[in-house]
Amino acid sequence: MKIAAPKGTRDILPEESGLWREVERVFRETCELFQFGELRLPTFEHTEIFQRGVGDTTDIVSKEMYTFDDKAGRSMTLRPEGTAGAVRAFIENGMASRPFPVKLYYILNLFRYENVQKGRYREFHQLGLEAFGSASPELDAEIISLLDLFFKRLGLKHTSLHLNSLGTEDSRAQYTLALKDYFKPHLSSLCKDCQSRYETNPLRILDCKVPHDQEIAAAAPLMFDYLNTEDRAHFDRICTLLDAWSIPYTVDKRIVRGLDYYTRTVFEFVSENVGTQGTICGGGRYDKLVEVLGGPAVPAVGFALGQERLLLEMAAQGIALEAAKPVGVYIASLDEASLEFAATLALQLRKKGYAAAFDVVGRSLKAQMKYAGKSDYDFSLVLGSNEVEALEARLRRMADGEEKTVRLDDLTAFEAYLRGENE
Ligand code: HAM
Repeated sequence: MKIAAPKGTRDILPEESGLWREVERVFRETCELFQFGELRLPTFEHTEIFQRGVGDTTDIVSKEMYTFDDKAGRSMTLRPEGTAGAVRAFIENGMASRPFPVKLYYILNLFRYENVQKGRYREFHQLGLEAFGSASPELDAEIISLLDLFFKRLGLKHTSLHLNSLGTEDSRAQYTLALKDYFKPHLSSLCKDCQSRYETNPLRILDCKVPHDQEIAAAAPLMFDYLNTEDRAHFDRICTLLDAWSIPYTVDKRIVRGLDYYTRTVFEFVSENVGTQGTICGGGRYDKLVEVLGGPAVPAVGFALGQERLLLEMAAQGIALEAAKPVGVYIASLDEASLEFAATLALQLRKKGYAAAFDVVGRSLKAQMKYAGKSDYDFSLVLGSNEVEALEARLRRMADGEEKTVRLDDLTAFEAYLRGENE
C-alpha cells in the first residue's frame, strides 16, 4: 500500500506553520479591533444546510461536496464554505436576540472536490467573518476596511479590490428576464448544465467554466445595469465611503460569485500570483440567507480569504512574517551526572520562559555542539563534572562565540546574559 496524503491535501510542517500562525494572529487581532468574536464550527453539517444555503445549482453543491451517509443513514457534508454553517449557528443559538450587529469571525479548514492546481486544493483554509443585523452600506464598507487594514498589517502592498452589486430580488426579477431573452437563441449550443441552469437559475450560466459558454456569456446583459434606485444608492454609498477612506477599488460588473446567497454587494480581491483563478478573497451581502435557513429576517454581510492563496501572494510580494520566539539555550553534557543536571537546568529555564534542550539521543560532545548550531539555539553551555561541582559554567553566545562565566545555583547573571544585559 502506498502511504500518501489524499490528492489536494497537504501537511503543514513546523518550518511553515509559524507563518500560518502569524497570519492567523494578525487576522484575529484585526477582527478584534472591529469587535468581532471568534466562532468555531463543526467540520460537517447536515447536507441540506449547504444545498439550501449555497444553492443546489452551484458548482460547489452540485459537483464539489464531500457528502456521505452517517451510520444512521443521515446525509452529512464536510463543510465546503463557512457562511451557511455560521448562519445555522446564528439561528440555532438564538443570536438574533443579541444586540445587533452580531459580529463573528472564523478560521476554518474546508473541503471541495476540485481540480487540483496552484492555489486550488481539496482541503484548504479560510479566514472569514460574518456580520449580522444591519442592511446599511456602512457595514459593507466597514468590513472592506477591515480587510484593507489586515492587508496593511501583514505588509501587503498591492491588492486589487473588485466591487459589484447583484441587486435585490426586485432588481433581479427584471434582470433574469433579460438574461433569459439573451441566452434563448444560444440555448442549444450551451452545455447540458447551462441548459438546465437556464430554467432553474440563469445567473449561474455566467459562472460556467466551459469556454464556449463563457464566450457567449461575455456579451450577456449585466446585473449592474438593472439595479433599481435603492440598490444603486446602496452601492454608491459604499463607493463614497471607500473613496473617503482612500481604499482603491474597481467597479467590476462581471463579478457574479459562485454561491447563490448574495444580494446587493459582492466583492473580490484578485491577484495574478495565486493561480489561474486569482481570487484571494470573496465576499458580499446576503440579506435573505438567515430566512432561507429557517431563521428570522436578518440581513448580513461577510467575506472569506483563502489562506493558502494569501500565503502565495505574500511570498510573491516577498513578505516573510516571523513570530517572536523565546531565547533558546542548548545544554550539552559530558556524562550521566551532568546530563541529569542539564535536564534539571533546562526545566528551570523553561519555567522562566526560555527555550531549553539537552541531549536525549546520546550524542558525543562534538555532535551535540553541531546539533545546537544547526538547531538555531541562541546560547549553549557545556556541563561536565567540573562545572557541576563548581556550579559554574561558560555560557556561549552562538552568534559571535562570546562567552561569559555564570553561576548555575543562582540564575541572575545567567538570565541577564540571555537577555543581552551586563555586556
Ligand atoms: P468563495 O469565493 O467560495 O466564498 O471562497 C472564498 C475564498 O476561498 C476564495 O477567494 C479563495 O481564496 C478560497 N478558496 C476557495 N476554494 C478554494 C480551493 N479549492 N483551494 C484554495 N482556496 C480556495 C466563500 O466561501 C464564501 N463563504 C465567502 C463569504 C463569506 N461570503 C460571505 N461571507
